[in-house]
Parts: sequence; structure tokens; C-alpha cells
Amino acid sequence: MLVEKCDNAAVNDSSAVQARSAVFRRSFRKEFPFAVRGEGVYVWDANGSRYLDLAGSAAVNFIGHGVGEISTAMAEQAAHLEFVHTSQFTTPVAEEYARELLAFAGDHFRDGAVYFTCGGSESIETALKLARQYQVEIGQPRRHQIVSRHQSYHGSTLGALSVSGNKRRREIYLPMVREFPHIGMPYCYRCIYDGKDGCRNCGQEYAAELERAIEACKGEAAAFIFEPLSGATLGAVVPPPGYLKSVVEICQRHNVLLIADEVMTGMGRTGRNFAVDHWDVKPDILVTAKGLSSGYAPLGAVIASKKVVTIAAGSGPFLHGFTYNAHPISLAAGRAVLRRLQLQKLVGAADSSAADTPAAYFKKSLETLLDLPAVGDVRGLGLLWGVEFVADKPSKRPFSPEQNMAGNIGVAALKRGLLVYPMQGCVDGTSGDHLLLAPPAVITREQIDCAVNQLSAAIREACESLR
Ligand SMILES: Cc1ncc(COP(=O)(O)O)c(C=O)c1O
Repeated sequence: MLVEKCDNAAVNDSSAVQARSAVFRRSFRKEFPFAVRGEGVYVWDANGSRYLDLAGSAAVNFIGHGVGEISTAMAEQAAHLEFVHTSQFTTPVAEEYARELLAFAGDHFRDGAVYFTCGGSESIETALKLARQYQVEIGQPRRHQIVSRHQSYHGSTLGALSVSGNKRRREIYLPMVREFPHIGMPYCYRCIYDGKDGCRNCGQEYAAELERAIEACKGEAAAFIFEPLSGATLGAVVPPPGYLKSVVEICQRHNVLLIADEVMTGMGRTGRNFAVDHWDVKPDILVTAKGLSSGYAPLGAVIASKKVVTIAAGSGPFLHGFTYNAHPISLAAGRAVLRRLQLQKLVGAADSSAADTPAAYFKKSLETLLDLPAVGDVRGLGLLWGVEFVADKPSKRPFSPEQNMAGNIGVAALKRGLLVYPMQGCVDGTSGDHLLLAPPAVITREQIDCAVNQLSAAIREACESLR
């Protein structure tokens, strides 16, 4: 099939597909193009087709693909020292980078410490165990429950899944996961409380759910974990005014640690160093990954505040570890990424509330999609946006899950050389279709124009195919 693409080249969409791959792929039914090169916002496959990466892979790439100085930094580190085990050595790159990250995380993390992992799920596991060890060390050994939210995602390992609320990703593993209390997630487009006051009070209703859940734990709650902006599961839903402030107060009142999962939203993605900065929230533990290395190497970080480090790590070893903690080559990549995003002022570029930034232009352009009958909501912050699709706009009725609307739009977008992140389940864990969009911060106005035009065409094509 021939389609017009973002680079205006008519390209055959038959990708280089190997019939029986030896790779245990995410899906054995889907055909995957062979990616061979990346530069800026683009990725090329082995057929020479170019794709505009409007999803930053999966909200990973922030500085753009193919930045030579990152691979140079990694190669230099590898040439000097590829690896040592953290039970035997620390390294200059770990010490310097940890100091830089603490400074990037802001004053609240002064004299804290950074625990480096290989990604988001490992970091979440680390944060959960750190919270538990903290409670034990301060003489609260009964505290082990982690309160989290429905419609959240914190990772795919069993511990991270146990605190996640993404129904589809948990379902078959439920007999294997430890169940912790889950509370409701504010979702303004489909608020379960009376949202007629412009969201002035629903935030308090959702916060009250947290207090009730903590009280129901009867002194066993160790921590509350949350994504400041919901990630893939709901698609960049922004919390209502006052909600996070109340969450902080409730956690403090009950001596429950606050863990901010900024795996997706951290490192500038929302136009602040960390998304919690939008609401002046100071978590006890801040978890980040994805944009931390922008995908140049597997990397995650648990940034622990002084309060947590002094106590949990002060009295004995942290009873936790992975072989590849603080891998020097990954750290060299992360450090070079941090330098790059600071020198290029990419956090500012991702600020959708400032005038004339790529993020502000992206917001404005995406909002034009609301003219389409199937687009019910456009929401987000910075360079993290969700577009939700509905079968009927006035009633907000979703498409049926079997229609696979988000998936079909994803396929129609891919044909047009556009990479997006389709998801289902935003309404109730099963129905509801949306796209998550998170382009690299180096995206230009022309690229945004092209991407949004193609996205609009992809949505119209997917709707027409239902008729
Ligand atoms: C908010 C959030 N937490 C944790 C994770 C897990 O990270 P990883 O896939 O790097 O293990 C993700 C992944 O999408 C995420 O979005």
C-alpha cells in the first residue's frame, strides 16, 4: 500500500520482516520494521523508510536520536573502565553524576543520595524496599503496606506490578502478586465526583480516599506511590488543583513516605526538572528512568532525600542490590544526556506554559484535533500529552474494546511515518482508547505541523474503516 508520509515520500509499507525470528519479541503476531538509524526526531528502518518519533519511543527519548557526544562519552568510559561491582568499588562517574543529579532535583534533595539501576521497574522495586527498610529502622516494623492508585503503572516486575493499577497488565499475574490498597485516580474528563465546580473540590474527594486507605491499614502503611501526571495507563492526565498538596499533608500527618514515580515525567519531560515541581511537592523518594538516559543506555535512579538516606542507610547496609547497579557506561550516557539537556535548555523547550516554545506549539496544535468527532479529550503538560477517543462526544461513550480504535489509529499513523503510543483501558481498565504522545524536545514547528496533520488523517482513516 502506498501512503503519503511525513517526509512526503511515497514509500512501500512492507517492512523487512523475518518469518521466524529467534528474538522473543513483544508479540509474535505483529510485524516489526527493522530499525537501523536515528537522528533528531527521526528513526529509519532497513527499507529506508523514515518515521517521526512522536512518542519518544515510549516517552524515553528527550534529547533527540543519534547525538554523537553521548556515544562518545560512553565509548570513552568503556575504554577506561567498563564495569566494577558496587560491593567492591565506587567510580568517579557515579560520584560526580550523583552530585549533579541531586542538584538537578533541587534543594529538597540536598545531602540526599542516588541509587542507580538499569531502568524504571528496578528503580520502583528499590524505592519500595527502601521505604520498608526506612520504616523498620525508625522502629515501625509493622509498616509494610504500599498504598497506590487504580489506573496507574509502576513497572512490570512483580513488586512493581503489585502497586500498579493497570488492569490489563496485571490481570493474568494476579495470583502471583501481593495485593496492596489501591485508591481512585483523579481523571477530570471522567470524574466520578461532581466535577461541575471546575475541579475545585474533586481533588479533595480523591485525597480523602488516601486518608481512608491509610487509616484502614491500621498503622501498617509504609508509603504512598503515585505518578504526578498519569503515564501510559490514562494518558497524561493532570491532577486537579489542590490534590497533590492535600496528598502531601495526609502522608505527613500519618508518617507515610511519599514516593513520586517520575520514570516517565522526570528529567524535563513536563517542562520542569521533575513534574512534582509544578505543584511544589517534595517527595521523600523520587524515582526516575526513561529520559534520564534518553534511551542511550539502560538507566534508572532512585533519588532519596536526606531524611530517608540518613536513617535507612545510616544504620546498616541497604539489603538490596542488582549486579548492574551504577553501571559505568550507562552512567556516562546519563551524565552526558544531563549536560546536553542543560546546555540546550531543553527543559525550557518542554514548557507548554511559556510563550513560543515547541511544547506550547505542540499543545496548541494538538488541541485542533478536538474538532474531529472522535476526539473527546486532549490533555497533558509540557511534552507529555494524551488524546482520548470517543464513539459519541456528548455522552463520552467509548469505542468498544474489540474495535481496537487506538491500535488502528496507531497502524494508520505508522503507515504515514508517524510513531505514537496507543493504549486501551482508560475508562475502566478495559474500554477506552487513547494515544500517548511524547516527542523529543528538539522537535520543530514544521515537524509538529506535519505530525499533527498526519495524526489527524490517521484518526479519520481509522474512523472511516469502522463504517
Ligand atoms: C510511571 C512508570 N513507572 C515505571 C515504569 C517501568 O519502567 P521500565 O519499563 O523502565 O521498567 C514505567 C514504564 O513505562 C512508567 O511509565
